Amino acid sequence: MEQFIIRGGNPLVGEVDISGAKNAALGILPAAIMTEDTVRITNLPDVRDINVMLEAMSQIGVKVERVSRHEALITADQVTDVSVDYEFIKKIRASYYLLGALLGKFKRAEVPLPGGCNIGSRPIDLHLKGFRAMGAQVTIKNGVIIAEAKQLHGAHIYLDTVSVGATINIMMAAAMADGRTIIENCAREPHVVDVANFLNSMGANIKGAGTDVIRIRGVEKLHATDYPIIPDQIEAGTFMFAAAATKGDIMVRNVIPKHLEATTAKLLEMGCEVEEFDSAVRVVASKRLTNTNVKTLPYPGFPTDMQPQIGVALSMAEGTSIVTESIFENRFKYIDELARMGGTAKVEGNTAIITGVSKLTGARVSALDLRAGAALVIAGLAAEGITIIDDIKYILRGYENFDEKLRSLGAEIQMIQNEKEEQQFRLRVI
Ligand code: UD1
Repeated sequence: MEQFIIRGGNPLVGEVDISGAKNAALGILPAAIMTEDTVRITNLPDVRDINVMLEAMSQIGVKVERVSRHEALITADQVTDVSVDYEFIKKIRASYYLLGALLGKFKRAEVPLPGGCNIGSRPIDLHLKGFRAMGAQVTIKNGVIIAEAKQLHGAHIYLDTVSVGATINIMMAAAMADGRTIIENCAREPHVVDVANFLNSMGANIKGAGTDVIRIRGVEKLHATDYPIIPDQIEAGTFMFAAAATKGDIMVRNVIPKHLEATTAKLLEMGCEVEEFDSAVRVVASKRLTNTNVKTLPYPGFPTDMQPQIGVALSMAEGTSIVTESIFENRFKYIDELARMGGTAKVEGNTAIITGVSKLTGARVSALDLRAGAALVIAGLAAEGITIIDDIKYILRGYENFDEKLRSLGAEIQMIQNEKEEQQFRLRVI
C-alpha cells in the first residue's frame, strides 16, 4: 500500500511546470471517438484517471496508441461495442462522458450509472434530461443507462443547476445532432471551453463556450485534429497554496493566469504576493498568512476543487476564516484529519469556521479523496515533524509526479511501500 511520508518545515522555493488538465482530458478523450480519423492529443497528463479512461476506450474497440507519456493517438474507426464496463465507471465517474460521445456518434450508448462518491451525492439527471430533449430514449436497466435514438435533433435545454459534466455531455451529443441546440445556464469552466475548442478543431460548430449560453449547430461528420490540452488550473492552484502555506516562493509555469484569478485574489487577501506573467504566476509568502472568507462557486468563482487546499492554508493563518462549500455537501472531511495535526475548525452544515493556529504538527492522516489528499500533503509540508498520508491512490488519480515536483522545490517527501522504506526516510531526514 503506497503512502507519502513528509518531513515538514521547508519553505518551497523554485520553479514547477504544470501538466495538462485532467478534467479537460477526461472530456476530450471520449470526444475523440466521434471521428473515424486519427486524432492526436498532446499535453495529456500522465495520471491514473487518464490511463483508466484510455483503457475504457480500448475495451470498446478504440485504437489507442500512447506515443509518449503526454501524447496519444486515438482512432475510432472500428468501435465494436457501445457498452462500457462497470469496472471503469467504478474507478472514474467521468467515464460517463462516453455516454454523450457514443450517443452523439453511434446513436446508442450503454454506460453503468455512477454511484455516489466521497465528496457527496453526484446525480446525473441533467445529463439525461439533455439527451431526452434531443430525442433520445433513456432507460436504466440493471444499473446501466441505455441511451438510444434513431436520430438526435437539436433542442433548447435549460440546466437547472450549473453542471460541468452535463454541459460537456450535452455539447458532445449535440455536436452531431440534426439542427441547432442551445444550452442555457451552462458551466463556464476552462475545461468546458477546451472540450468545445477540441470539437471545433474536428469540424464541429459550437459557439459561446465560456459564457452561460452555448449554441451548437450539428454537423454530419467530424475529422482528424492535432490538439494540445490546456494546463491544469487545479494542479497550479495546489502549488500556489503550497507556496503560501510553507512561506515559500514558487514560480508556477505553463499556466493560463486568467484561469487562476479566483485563487490569486484569495492569496492576495491572505497577504501573499502574486506576480502574473504570460504563462506563469509567482507566489511569494514572506509572512504569516491572514484570515479571509471564501465560498465555492462555479467558474469564475472560487473552485470547489481548491477548497481543501485553501482550508489548510487558512488553518495556519492569523484569525478566524469562514469557508462555505456550495457545490458538494461532503467536502469537509479533511477537517477531521487536519485536527490530528493540530488544526482547529468547526464544521456546521456547508460551512467550516477555521481558527488559525501558529503551527501544525505532523501526524498520520488519510487522503479521503483527490483534493482533500493534496491539501493534506500541503499540511504535511508546512507542519513540524513527520506526516504520513495513507490512501494516496486518490492523489495519484489527478497529480502527475506530485512527490517529484515537490522535491524539486525543496520538499522532503517520498512515496513509500513499506515500513522499511519509512525507517530509511526517517533516518535520512533526522
Ligand atoms: C466536475 C469536475 C469536478 C469538480 C466539479 C465542480 C470533472 C471530471 N470533474 O464534476 O472535479 O469538482 O465539476 O466544479 O470535470 N448536479 C446535479 N445534476 C446533474 C449534474 C450535477 O444536480 O445532472 C449538481 C451536482 O450535485 C453538484 C453541481 O451540480 O452540486 C455541480 O456538479 P458538476 O458541475 O456536474 O460536477 P461534475 O461535472 O461531476
